[in-house]
Amino acid sequence: MKDNVSGLVVIETEGEIGLIRLAKPPVNAIGLALRTAIYEGFKTLQKDPAVRAIVLYGEGRFFSAGADIKDFGKADIQPTLPHILKALNDSEKPVIVALHGVAFGGALEVALATHLRVGVGDLRIGLPEVKLGLLPGAGGAQRLPRLSGLAGAIDIICSGRDVSAREALDLGILDRLAEGAPREAGIIAARDVLAGKLAARRTDTRDVAEDLAAVKAAKARLKAKRPALQAPLTALEAVCAATLPIDEGLAKERALFMELMAGEERAALVHAFFAERATVDIPEKAAHPRQIDRIAVIGGGTMGVGIATSLLIGGYHVDLIEAQSERVAQARAGVESNLAGALKRGKLTEQAHDAALAALDCADSLDAAGRADLVIEAIFEDMSAKTALFTKLDTICKPGAILATNTSYLDVNEIAAATKRPQDVIGLHFFSPAHIMRLIEVVVAKETAPDCVASAFALARKLGKVPVRAEVCDGFIGNRILTQYRRAADYLLLDGASFTEIDGALEDFGFAMGPFAVSDLAGLDIAKATRDRKAATRPAEERYSRVADLICDQGWFGRKTGQGYYVYEGGKQQGGNPGAFEIVAAERRALNLPKRSFTSEEIVSRCLTAMIAEAVRVLEEGIALRPVDIDAVELFGYGFPRHRGGPMHQADLIGPAELIRRIELYANDDPQFWQVPHLLRDMAREGRSFADLNGALTGHVTKGSTK
Ligand code: 3HC
Repeated sequence: MKDNVSGLVVIETEGEIGLIRLAKPPVNAIGLALRTAIYEGFKTLQKDPAVRAIVLYGEGRFFSAGADIKDFGKADIQPTLPHILKALNDSEKPVIVALHGVAFGGALEVALATHLRVGVGDLRIGLPEVKLGLLPGAGGAQRLPRLSGLAGAIDIICSGRDVSAREALDLGILDRLAEGAPREAGIIAARDVLAGKLAARRTDTRDVAEDLAAVKAAKARLKAKRPALQAPLTALEAVCAATLPIDEGLAKERALFMELMAGEERAALVHAFFAERATVDIPEKAAHPRQIDRIAVIGGGTMGVGIATSLLIGGYHVDLIEAQSERVAQARAGVESNLAGALKRGKLTEQAHDAALAALDCADSLDAAGRADLVIEAIFEDMSAKTALFTKLDTICKPGAILATNTSYLDVNEIAAATKRPQDVIGLHFFSPAHIMRLIEVVVAKETAPDCVASAFALARKLGKVPVRAEVCDGFIGNRILTQYRRAADYLLLDGASFTEIDGALEDFGFAMGPFAVSDLAGLDIAKATRDRKAATRPAEERYSRVADLICDQGWFGRKTGQGYYVYEGGKQQGGNPGAFEIVAAERRALNLPKRSFTSEEIVSRCLTAMIAEAVRVLEEGIALRPVDIDAVELFGYGFPRHRGGPMHQADLIGPAELIRRIELYANDDPQFWQVPHLLRDMAREGRSFADLNGALTGHVTKGSTK
């Protein structure tokens, strides 16, 4: 018998064994249709008197990625996953599952409700729901502790980490490891069960011992490490319910799950999950990427070294070119140290580490760029140095090679114009440390060829990065928004909030560090150099805060000099710098500014509103394709708290009308800085949200002035 009427599962029998194969590409996500098909298949096999055991397995790369995330927020429709899993658990016929690839979330919960679990090949399992602002809602928090014990389950569920097949076997989550095809592994296990060689057992019949010490330690750890997050602590509460009788525990778990499902944290984290994947939908996606094997990176500073490391980890051959010969060895040492770090953190195997080292050549001559399929320039931010370099590269590089600049704000059109091949020139804006940060802004200049853009996206994906398409403007997407965020913070400081209050408010909102702590880390001299360069073009009417310049005048450049906004000892922050407080107070006196007080809420609102307003201008001008691309930039390049979803997601929570009200209110202080973008007024009038704008490519929405 073979049946695939639903197109989602294949039901067949092999002797006494009934088989259910999940067949819903790409990841067998368990939505209503697949749930129903599994349940119908299961009932068919239950009724078949010839079937004595039932095996579940998956087709494709994975057993399953779990519940269908796209269904979140929709009404629960029968058969729900908990309902089906109860039926699996209660089955008189033994139910065996053979897992391969990944079994995450609801998929692992399916497995936990069966009577025997086989892990095939390099399977990884996990209950990553907390990463989506949820907890396992189909019995996972009740059944995992019944197999692994309370402490093991707390660790896995509250962290959301994935677990190797070997560890899962050791923890008692899997019953057997196997190699080969999941179908065969499942059949062999089922036959062993029927022959009495392998014990199959209902998970629900097992008991869970209390473990007060583990619970207490986990609660303290979560409160200290992730105080802003609701899901991990709620998940802990759900796991603790596993010591109750199973039906009570399941009911409690489901109630907590539904509570989280309705919350903002869940919506933001799911938005972030899809944002990470949405940015590859670009106008150039049909173009065929060029072949890239060998890459030259020019510039052996921090950026060049980080980029080279990232490319080597991605499996490319890299020529790292540093013009100052005395600095070549230092650049190589930088890459070696980064690779050693990646090995230590388990990001690279020993073998991959050695292969990466062997694929690195360092030189002081540009000649090596002649062999490259892609050249990435990472020298200092100076237009004449960059144009001179690109003119040279034009004569050295082979036809069809892509010439990329890592500039963070300079005009890529001007750089392209320095060559006779502007179609091959593109911006690849990596973020420091480039081997760790996931964002790459792919800056498309006027004449950049579509296949050049497609190649940049293919490269970024191969590196495991999140590429976001941006058009040319000063600062592209991210740095443009950052500038306004920083200005809002600087104005708050002048107007009366202290830098510790501002940092504290934004850290409570979820940023790992507030803007002033970040400045200290990045080096106050670096930002000053940028300000000095831009001084000539700064509009005369723009409000300018001299505070950072005055701190620099003291020789305080932040963490590296032991003082900045804060004082540091042995690299550890010791609190606000009294000298910096005094500089702020003196500047306020000099400007005759009254010291106003701001609540944390207003501090966050002003900084966030400034970001959102600039983000809307970035959209209006077609610099970013969609709101979701802006969120991806902020989440993966600028540390915007993931559980807040990004500035555009926040803008939808606040709503265009309220944003306009806030901007108009703040404009009483500074009408030059606080201006309402046209698009925001249009959206308020038409009742549209930024989520609505994500549906189609929205570049060039209302190209032109925003003021
Ligand atoms: N639901 C819906 N779509 C999913 C999905 C899911 N659970 N998991 C992945 N997808 C989609 C992705 O959005 C992507 O779609 P796209 O091609 O249209 O962009 C496609 O499947 C392929 O996914 P990836 O690009 O991520 O493929 P990878 O091979 O890189 O990774 C994966 C595969 C490891 C399975 C990864 O997708 C993943 O981690 N998925 C999420 C797993 C997860 O969080 N599961 C828990 C869900 S919550 C739950 O089960 C609740 C339960 O307790 C009731």
